[in-house]
Amino acid sequence: MTEQVKQDHIWSVDGFEQLAAARRSVRRYGETPVPEDVMRAAVRSAHLAPSSNNLQPWEFHWVRHDSPQRDAAVEACLSQPAAATSAELVFFIGRPDLCVRRAAALQAQYESEQNEGTAAYYRDQVGPNVAGMEAAKRSAWVDKSVALAAAQFMLAIQAAGFDSCPMEGLDPSKVRALFDLPQEASVVMAISVGQGIPEGLYGPRYRFPLQDHLTEH
Ligand SMILES: Cc1cc2nc3c(=O)[nH]c(=O)nc-3n(C[C@H](O)[C@H](O)[C@H](O)COP(=O)(O)O)c2cc1C
Repeated sequence: MTEQVKQDHIWSVDGFEQLAAARRSVRRYGETPVPEDVMRAAVRSAHLAPSSNNLQPWEFHWVRHDSPQRDAAVEACLSQPAAATSAELVFFIGRPDLCVRRAAALQAQYESEQNEGTAAYYRDQVGPNVAGMEAAKRSAWVDKSVALAAAQFMLAIQAAGFDSCPMEGLDPSKVRALFDLPQEASVVMAISVGQGIPEGLYGPRYRFPLQDHLTEH
């Protein structure tokens, strides 16, 4: 990162930690709509997530509050309150089936930039690696990157003053049918968005002590 960018930044370590602390899974929302620009900014942040080999193996299916697919989307989330009372719903989908094509597209991109070294990396290593990967392993591998996009999305929603809830309590086959997705598509999670109400917080946040999770070497 250049010095210029470092000097110009507007974020802070404390501010980010406060943002992370403020994000909670909210299961009930009020009537307040979520502005379209908030949703678009959050989706852009999701799209900036890192991904393995930069294959960007995600799709974001945004079911807007007034979408004809809204009721079916809520039902696909098992009609849980976090979905039923939400203003907006976004489904984070992994596409292991598209990884070979994405590797080829990146290879072509680098070829067009005359970056033969990186083009060769995608042609000789990434492409064959993805193509030869066992299906379950490829799906798990893709899901990691998609989950990072989902995390960035939720933090962006929080930064805009709205709330969210990640949900894997859903029916993947209904989600695939709703968006006409192939069987290989992995339904990583849905995220509902809205303005939370106090009853939407089911309890205080609980975390095991950090020292149980952190090992310093
Ligand atoms: C992958 C994933 C799936 C989840 N699925 C659901 C769900 O289906 N319904 C729900 O109410 N909460 C769901 N949660 C929310 C968790 O219960 C919640 O993140 C956890 O209890 C910690 O609370 P916090 O998010 O408020 O810190 C899910 C969270 C994750 C990361």
